[in-house]
Amino acid sequence: MMNKQVLPFPADFMWGTSTSSYQIEGAANEGGRVPSVWDTFSRVPGKVVDGDHGDIACDHYHRYPEDIALIQKLGFKHYRFSIAWPRIITAPGVINEEGLAFYERLLDEVEQAGLIPMVTMYHWDLPQWIEDKGGWTNRAVLEQFREYASVVMERFGSRVGWWNTINEPYCASILGYGTGDHAPGHQNWYEAFTAAHHLLLSHGIAMELHREKGLSSQIGITLNMEYVDPASDAPQDVAAAARRDGFLNRWFAEPIFHGRYPQDMVEWYGDQAQGMDFVHEGDLERIHQPGDFLGINYYARSVIKAASDHSLLQAEQVLFTEPVTDMGWEIHPDSLYRLLTRVQRDFTQGLPILITENGAAMKDELEHGVVKDESRRQYIQDHLVACHRFIQEGGQLHGYYLWSFLDNFEWAFGYSKRFGIVYVDYTTQERTPKESAKWISKVIQANSLEI
Ligand code: NOJ
Repeated sequence: MMNKQVLPFPADFMWGTSTSSYQIEGAANEGGRVPSVWDTFSRVPGKVVDGDHGDIACDHYHRYPEDIALIQKLGFKHYRFSIAWPRIITAPGVINEEGLAFYERLLDEVEQAGLIPMVTMYHWDLPQWIEDKGGWTNRAVLEQFREYASVVMERFGSRVGWWNTINEPYCASILGYGTGDHAPGHQNWYEAFTAAHHLLLSHGIAMELHREKGLSSQIGITLNMEYVDPASDAPQDVAAAARRDGFLNRWFAEPIFHGRYPQDMVEWYGDQAQGMDFVHEGDLERIHQPGDFLGINYYARSVIKAASDHSLLQAEQVLFTEPVTDMGWEIHPDSLYRLLTRVQRDFTQGLPILITENGAAMKDELEHGVVKDESRRQYIQDHLVACHRFIQEGGQLHGYYLWSFLDNFEWAFGYSKRFGIVYVDYTTQERTPKESAKWISKVIQANSLEI
């Protein structure tokens, strides 16, 4: 039998878990909350599996004391959650005190549990009243975001150690306004690039406000990133993979870290981006503010081959023989190591990186009070090994937040996909820690992996 290997993590490594407001809170019509784009979108037949929506979700709005106690019991030190914009600004210029009070209570609980909060300002629940005026495609959204960000930073700025400005601008823009898979469900590439630009600018605005208010907390953005491999060495496949990388990774990381959009992609998009007329003078300087850390959400790699069709990228995703999760996403932990190495080299250089999300949806079953999710445990272990390797080699990875604490509303997949390390019975709202949760508790306690 092989000897066990022990992989220690740095003493101050940030062990956390992540959630987001619309995915867990429920209480959609309580506390003065107004509808978000996801309330509207999930009502459109065919948009969300089984017609699911977030009206009740995990009922976290009412059960947060129990939930925070469980996060603490599992041994996590950090907790990343998001504030719902539609609970805070309910109409132009109208600040909802009841909404602020909810996050006040939540932060009290988080602090009393000794957890360090990371608060995401925008995790996709745009107030519908803003969408009605064009949402992320209308430059007026910048003023609306400024007001919202200013209110939450003013109120919670001294209590929140870590601010996360925007979660995955790629998904909010490309899936929301380009492919139509996410709310508000539009299919227009020009709108998508415009929305992406305004999301990136909103990050810059939050950075400015943070400075103006003299807050001492850390602040950064979270990008979803993949390592992209070409399906073969053929030049057309290599070029297609570079386009996918440009579309998903570089389009967002280059403006933030280098103050420019990738020229190859600007040329490739051509008419679809209409001369990039949504970029005003000074915008790129405002976006070019990385802050104190880069958050990366990593789930899978993509393998790309050229496609001679009329699609935007003329690139097609192919699956190799690797195992996949219940989302059909290829499990490829080595690509997390490769991605971190690449991101540090091309973008962050010495800036701290945090994995703000990593995890897997699996087909879980609750049997006699137990969920044996060995495949999820293995997924997490293998990805932590990749993190460890990167750190060993001097990589600036400072923390890892598991997605997700609870099973929750997985956007267009509704409740059909389970990402939690805690199982949620949606009829009773009972929470049951899965085997993976018990395992990660031990890893955190030991601050090392034993493999
Ligand atoms: C990233 C998103 O931030 C989160 O909301 C989502 O549930 C996970 N990916 C899994 O798809």
